[in-house]
Amino acid sequence: MTIKLSDKLLADQFRKDPRVRQAKNLLLQALQDAQKGITGVKAPQSDLQQTYREIIEEFNKIRGGKLYYPYLGSGFGKGVFVELLDGSIKYDMINGIGVHYWGHSHPEILANSIDASLNDTVMQGHLQQNYNAANISKILIEASGLDHCFLSSSGAMANENALKIIFQKKFPAHRILAFEKCFIGRSLALSQITDKPSFREGLPSNVFVDYIPFYDPAHPTESTQQAIDALKDCIERHPKEYAVFCFELIQGEGGFHAGTHEFFTALMQIARDHGIAVFIDEVQTFGRTSELFAFQHFKLQDFADVVTLGKLSHVCATLFKNEYKPKPGLLSQTFTSSTSALQVGQFIIEQLIHGDYFGHKGKINTVHAKFEMRFRQLEKKHPELIAGPYGTGSMIVFTPLKGNHDKVLKFVQDLFEAGVISFVAGSEPTRVRFLVPIGTIEDHDIEAVMDILEQVLTKDKK
Ligand SMILES: Cc1ncc(COP(=O)(O)O)c(C=O)c1O
Repeated sequence: MTIKLSDKLLADQFRKDPRVRQAKNLLLQALQDAQKGITGVKAPQSDLQQTYREIIEEFNKIRGGKLYYPYLGSGFGKGVFVELLDGSIKYDMINGIGVHYWGHSHPEILANSIDASLNDTVMQGHLQQNYNAANISKILIEASGLDHCFLSSSGAMANENALKIIFQKKFPAHRILAFEKCFIGRSLALSQITDKPSFREGLPSNVFVDYIPFYDPAHPTESTQQAIDALKDCIERHPKEYAVFCFELIQGEGGFHAGTHEFFTALMQIARDHGIAVFIDEVQTFGRTSELFAFQHFKLQDFADVVTLGKLSHVCATLFKNEYKPKPGLLSQTFTSSTSALQVGQFIIEQLIHGDYFGHKGKINTVHAKFEMRFRQLEKKHPELIAGPYGTGSMIVFTPLKGNHDKVLKFVQDLFEAGVISFVAGSEPTRVRFLVPIGTIEDHDIEAVMDILEQVLTKDKK
């Protein structure tokens, strides 16, 4: 049971005040009225375009780097649709790389944000946690089967905290094992683990990482054996030096490559036999497979020592077994997150747990199957232009234009212009991904998105 406000509290009186309730209802009614203006994809408004370009240019200068897309939101949308400052309306199939799982301006999200805004503070953190932080922590512990939860405000911070508690527990072991092509974040330490040299160019190295090859579905037995051999080699070369093996069960940034139960258990068992912690990074996979956690989807419950999550949960978390409990002082931070992130995160997780999202017939699998059907038709029609889809659950990925990096970069920009926001993943081949807003997408949206995709893909053929 999560904590509910007692009616003896002033906070409860305030929330139940008829004026507050009426104000909330009025806001939600106004939202619905304004949303009537969104009926589908819309081109930018010509009288807004010039100013929009200037704003974007200035923002690029201030940031010291170009935005990936000319995207500046107006702060309004309707589920799968987002309105940009140039008046255009687009299908958002990437959602801030997987954050807005219920889409844009969803009435339930707004209702939760309004409730959260009635709190005494915008932010929560170490000396001041409200009941929202306790609630979401409890939900995550119960759903994961792990013993403890430490909240934080980014996936990178959740992963930093994971490594810190593991190193403290395993001292003096200090080496890290990770998969080739993994992505774990971009802090100074994490950039050294993330297997992308350009992400750590010019940075000092003080973390010792060795890489294990990932699973190859085209060669299941051989690639599993190669990974086992590489792991055993490392352990022989550096006895008792490894503290942790980082697992990304589906490599998101790497292009949505998944391992299997057999592959992971073979490696995790060896790690366990050598006292190496199994750390599963679910920052991208949480809530997107057939179960709440991807480690449950792959049936790896027996092995998970430390698990991190983020993105769609709005607040990020490091979950860990009792034996990894840190000594006082190791973890702390000014901000856990904003109150609205905590409350909206709780709402989304509770919807996922109690709604019809997981399992074979759940919405996540059903939506995947619908996308898959359309992608297969497209692949059949234009095998020279597209392959896929790949990916699992609400992570949909495909390879257009033979995965040629420059062509795919142009393709996603064209798709953006045509009204569908996506993002690239992986290299050689470069793929395109959708992180589908599962709480709001409907069948007709899938059809409309796929129609636009086909038009953009085939425009040079005509
Ligand atoms: C697997 C994985 N780990 C860690 C991170 C880092 O999360 P954040 O960007 O919130 O720091 C990401 C972000 O894409 C991720 O996909």
